[in-house]
Amino acid sequence: MYVLGIESTAHTFGVGIVEDGEVLSNERDVYKPASGGIIPREAALHHYTLGPSILKAALKRAGVGIKEIDLFAFARGPGILSCLKTGAQMAAFLSAKYGREVVGVNHCIAHIEIARKCSGFADPLMLYVSGGNTQIITFQNGRYVVFGETQDIGIGNLLDKVGRRLGIPFPAGPKIEEYAKAGKHYIKMPYSIKGMDVSFSGIETFISRVQNEHRIEDVCFSLQETVFSMLIEASERAMAYCKKDSMIIAGGVAANTRLNEMGKMMCGERGSSFARIPMEYAGDNGAMIAYTGYLMRDYDRQLPQPKPNFRTDAEVIKYR
Ligand code: ATP
Ligand code: FE2
Repeated sequence: MYVLGIESTAHTFGVGIVEDGEVLSNERDVYKPASGGIIPREAALHHYTLGPSILKAALKRAGVGIKEIDLFAFARGPGILSCLKTGAQMAAFLSAKYGREVVGVNHCIAHIEIARKCSGFADPLMLYVSGGNTQIITFQNGRYVVFGETQDIGIGNLLDKVGRRLGIPFPAGPKIEEYAKAGKHYIKMPYSIKGMDVSFSGIETFISRVQNEHRIEDVCFSLQETVFSMLIEASERAMAYCKKDSMIIAGGVAANTRLNEMGKMMCGERGSSFARIPMEYAGDNGAMIAYTGYLMRDYDRQLPQPKPNFRTDAEVIKYR
């Protein structure tokens, strides 16, 4: 069975194809604003303009004809409405033209499912860290339950905002990681865990006050050490509480080596397993939508309509 998945929730337009759940292709292009953050209208125009060529590239790479596709999956949300619409429209068009059904996938759950597939873990604790989302997730009673999350901005947004202050273009995560490797001096930053939740906004304010007094390498190093420690501490507590013996990190920030190192260290000390997700599947991509659509193949069909505020715990998981 061939499933084609379309990702368009924010900056990335991606198309992936899976055959019986195995990835055949995963093509994408990322919209990069000239300066500042994402401009929704521009991002949507990027998706609308490049979408067809990315679709063609994914089919070519997979060696599959469009008429052979059995099911079209698209990311329903959460995300930016104008961006979501481009993916939904493509799914609706393909469905009508080729007479195949459409399945709407929760973007956050797709990050989780591709990470779970890559790790081989049946029931891990999941730390989902991306631009807009920072959630500690466990599977309970047929849903992905958010055990802890950010009380304000997502960790990726924090990295991107701080990056903008430091003159690093969007997305800033990879460059901050590079600078952090050359950091030598730790600057004490606000460390905020409230119960199982974390809070990041104080850190940006703090950095705005001290950034001129320190080397950029030390600011980036201290930023990473502080925010990743908060996340790993909260994750460790969640693992103990929920009695999970494995952990995965999903989402765009999962591309970060230092965060993975800390996760691995924490799991090692507890005698638990840890897996790092391949870079290709860390950030937004079409393969994760296709794979999750494949998992949902026997259950859910929706009208191809976006759902911008689609929460992780809103979906009842029928395939697990
Ligand atoms: P979501 O809709 O799930 O919130 P997203 O639209 O933010 O996703 P992703 O591709 O999942 O998209 O994540 C992008 C984020 O990942 C950006 O904020 C970027 O700075 C961050 N990022 C990418 N690479 C790294 C890295 N090496 N280290 C830290 N952060 C990174
Ligand atoms: Fe994402």
